[in-house]
Amino acid sequence: MSETVLVIGGGGREHAITRALAPDAEVYALASNRNPGIGSLAAGTEITDETDTAAVVAYAERIDADAAVIGPESALAAGVADALNDAGVFTFGPTAEAARIETDKAYQREFMAEHEIPGTPEFETFDEAEAAAAYVEDVEGDVAVKPTGLTGGKGVRVTGDQVSHAEAAEYVRGSGHDEWVIEERLVGEEFTVQAFVNDGEMRLTPAVQDHKRAYEGDEGPNTGGMGSYSDAGATLPFMTPQEYYSAASVLEATVDALPEYTGVLYGQFMLTDEGPKVVEFNARFGDPEAMNVLPVMETPLLDIVTAAREGESLPEPAFENRATVCKYAVPAGYPTDPDAGSEIEVDESTVAAAADAHGGDALLFYASVDDREDGLFTTTSRSFAVVGVADDIPTAESIAADALAAAGEGLRVREDVGTEELVESRIDHMASIRD
Ligand code: AMP
Ligand code: GLY
Repeated sequence: MSETVLVIGGGGREHAITRALAPDAEVYALASNRNPGIGSLAAGTEITDETDTAAVVAYAERIDADAAVIGPESALAAGVADALNDAGVFTFGPTAEAARIETDKAYQREFMAEHEIPGTPEFETFDEAEAAAAYVEDVEGDVAVKPTGLTGGKGVRVTGDQVSHAEAAEYVRGSGHDEWVIEERLVGEEFTVQAFVNDGEMRLTPAVQDHKRAYEGDEGPNTGGMGSYSDAGATLPFMTPQEYYSAASVLEATVDALPEYTGVLYGQFMLTDEGPKVVEFNARFGDPEAMNVLPVMETPLLDIVTAAREGESLPEPAFENRATVCKYAVPAGYPTDPDAGSEIEVDESTVAAAADAHGGDALLFYASVDDREDGLFTTTSRSFAVVGVADDIPTAESIAADALAAAGEGLRVREDVGTEELVESRIDHMASIRD
């Protein structure tokens, strides 16, 4: 094998990236936790803080990496791509400056306004909490309040949904952040479209719907994402092809305004009565969304990474016409008070049995667990995910649901992700919004 690729990050997303690369490349891993799924595929693993640029470069040089792929936004924000590129290791992931599209929400909105990107919501930015809070108290209509920096998807509050205006203002005053974006509340159905991007060129992947709320029925606090589904084909059941292409044109306008960008550009959209609007951009694969699109991608991920490195046109990725449902098992108490450091057991045999029972495929992706000599332990984040892959969403859901029997004591799941009832409720919701 001629290519050596370093994958940075130790979650479910990075397990999916490693699995997509492993048939074609010698993969090495660097992460702050020991992920057993990545470990079983990788030629070597370095346990280091993934934001420690000097340590990442030293490891990339030690393994003589031909390329690197960065999973987590924290590493992008720390300038790991800059440092690796400076050291001569081509990195599929944007520079810290380009990653501001994700890491600085005020910059993101100002960038969108400046470049007249379609789907930009109305917004105001503030660099002082008191002014932001006073604005929230007085503003007409519902708003989303967002600290401008990274919060792992957990910093946003939405009035009329989670909180009142008074509660949102109190949250702004008390949370310790100075810089805020306050923007119009978008109402509709959320979806994600991820694209491979290099030198102004982009290649789309199928739409995915994530479930950010902690509990069934979209109750409870926001999480990193409890599970997600995709349909056979590029769209979702509540979406027209035209709406998917509107989202794609938002990404296209964004890529046009970022001619130097390399890596994955992730668009989080709200499908509103006026079409898709941008909730946010991310500068990397989504987690869980990587676990939906990579398993059905027929084109080797390595081909995309090497084409970007060689400055060649990116291959147009082909996808199997199959649906996926991903469900995460998380530590008890996640996200507010996660039970970290608990020993857990994952019964891998249930995963294969689930696939056999329903006629599809089942995958297990380990996430933020720590594989130690004395056992497998939870961290403060999500523990592992199962993905059902089948001809339609209900079958993929049945596979994922059965595979989740792999979760032993002490873990929690959102059972409703991808169920027929939930998907129908999304379709009905969108129909009521279109009326
Ligand atoms: P973000 O960190 O920007 O992805 O926001 C986290 C979550 O907050 C999103 O996935 C949405 O569910 C919600 N959210 C963010 N911005 C808005 C908005 N303008 N209107 C409604 N919900 C929003
Ligand atoms: N699934 C949301 C994210 O990766 O940010």
